[in-house]
Amino acid sequence: MDENENKLLEHAADGIQEYDNPLPGWLLAILYASIVFSVVYVGFYALAFAPDSYDAELRQEEIADRAVLQAYFNANPLVPPSTENLLAEAVDVDVLSKGAGRFAKTCASCHGEAAQGLIGPNLVDNQWLHGGKVTQIFNTVVKGVPAKGMPPWGRAIPPEEIAAVVSYIRSLQGSHPDNPKPGEGEVVEPEPMPQGR
Ligand code: HEC
Repeated sequence: MDENENKLLEHAADGIQEYDNPLPGWLLAILYASIVFSVVYVGFYALAFAPDSYDAELRQEEIADRAVLQAYFNANPLVPPSTENLLAEAVDVDVLSKGAGRFAKTCASCHGEAAQGLIGPNLVDNQWLHGGKVTQIFNTVVKGVPAKGMPPWGRAIPPEEIAAVVSYIRSLQGSHPDNPKPGEGEVVEPEPMPQGR
């Protein structure tokens, strides 16, 4: 009887039997090491034992990344559609529904469902930090204000959708959502829309 015979397990499946061999040491070592690693990893990153400086570092990097994007759009500006176009589309129901959809998906988390302002300023009154003309709003959305937490959207959103969001924002001018954030910045009277609204 060769030594392997002893290790044959009792059971058989369709005549196939198996040995009772232990896993090789190196494989077990990897298994145990990854279990230990996972505990440390989850504790550090998921359960927030990480020092605060880790979060701060992440935020800094995010701002730096966005600043690079902003610099890119400073050097290669996206030409906004004409003022006439942006204003004309602010009364076009198809464009508005596209703009509203994008706003709900991408902007509402910071500016509020009804653009009443949350983390970011309200976008319904006539006060603007970065200019209230529709072409200026278009530029703000493209380039963002990375240092203040407004991401640059020029790469993430196709230009015609940015235009639709800008027209949508223009259409919200003078609306009175609940709990508006107090106005910030200079007063700019909204440019008149085709129907004089
Ligand atoms: C992560 C949060 C965040 C998201 C998401 C966000 N914004 Fe902002 N936004 C801000 C902040 C913060 C400011 C204020 C910047 C400042 O203080 O200069 C701002 C400013 C603005 C301004 C300028 C307002 C002014 O007074 O001049 C516009 C316009 C704007 N955002 C539009 C948008 C649009 C459109 C979207 C979606 C495509 C969007 N934002 C998504 C945070 C955000």
